[in-house]
Amino acid sequence: MEELIEEFKKNGFCIFNNEDLDSHKILANSLSTSLEIKDNTFSDLHHKIDKSKLNEFRLKSFSALNRLPNKNKIYFNQARNFLMMLLGPDISIQNKLNLSIQIPLDDSSLLPLHTDTIVGESAFEVVVWIPFTNAFESNSIYLIPIDKSKKMMSEIQDYSNLGMQKMEDDYEIYKKFIEINSNQVLVFSPTLFHGNVLNRTSATRISINCRFKNIFAPESPNPERRLGTFYEVFNTSPLTDIALSYEDPYISSL
Ligand SMILES: [Fe+2]
Repeated sequence: MEELIEEFKKNGFCIFNNEDLDSHKILANSLSTSLEIKDNTFSDLHHKIDKSKLNEFRLKSFSALNRLPNKNKIYFNQARNFLMMLLGPDISIQNKLNLSIQIPLDDSSLLPLHTDTIVGESAFEVVVWIPFTNAFESNSIYLIPIDKSKKMMSEIQDYSNLGMQKMEDDYEIYKKFIEINSNQVLVFSPTLFHGNVLNRTSATRISINCRFKNIFAPESPNPERRLGTFYEVFNTSPLTDIALSYEDPYISSL
């Protein structure tokens, strides 16, 4: 585990084996029901559904996932030990699981180069990205490693006139398309530049992502990305429970 944390520290992301494949299976079953295909054929989804109904399927699957009882626990358990080590026991979770379905040559849900922090997320969170198909080459997400992402952020004002497309072109060679199997988990910092491109492979990629952060980490400057709006409390330490229940006549406002 220490090695993984070191890797995360060095690169701003890491990949490890899914810690709870039973939980993964519960999500896969939900997707399988909503998408009306077997979970071992997710990569062939584009052969089995009408492309014009893709968004309908996305919405239906998204709603079903977010209605699952214990969805937070199911999601968290797949990266439990890593997240406990990274964040400590006081953890909040994004209140929705996000679903991504990238079928070959579909340009309806492309994400241009960005960092989540630029769009208002907290730099203190992590994104836990879990695939349900193998992801590779252009059907995957790409990340730009932390040293280059930092450089890009320092230059971002210079690109305000040139545009993000110019930045994307200039840093094209640093895009690392994540190679990951469906029994693994990717965790990355929202400070990394990332995105996706047109899927030119012959396989559909399906993944879910969700964010976690320490309850006491500084909140995002954006009120819509804070605890109570975007996040909910997931786990508290015994000490936090005692502190939160504490009342006295002097400093009870705590
Ligand atoms: Fe993002």
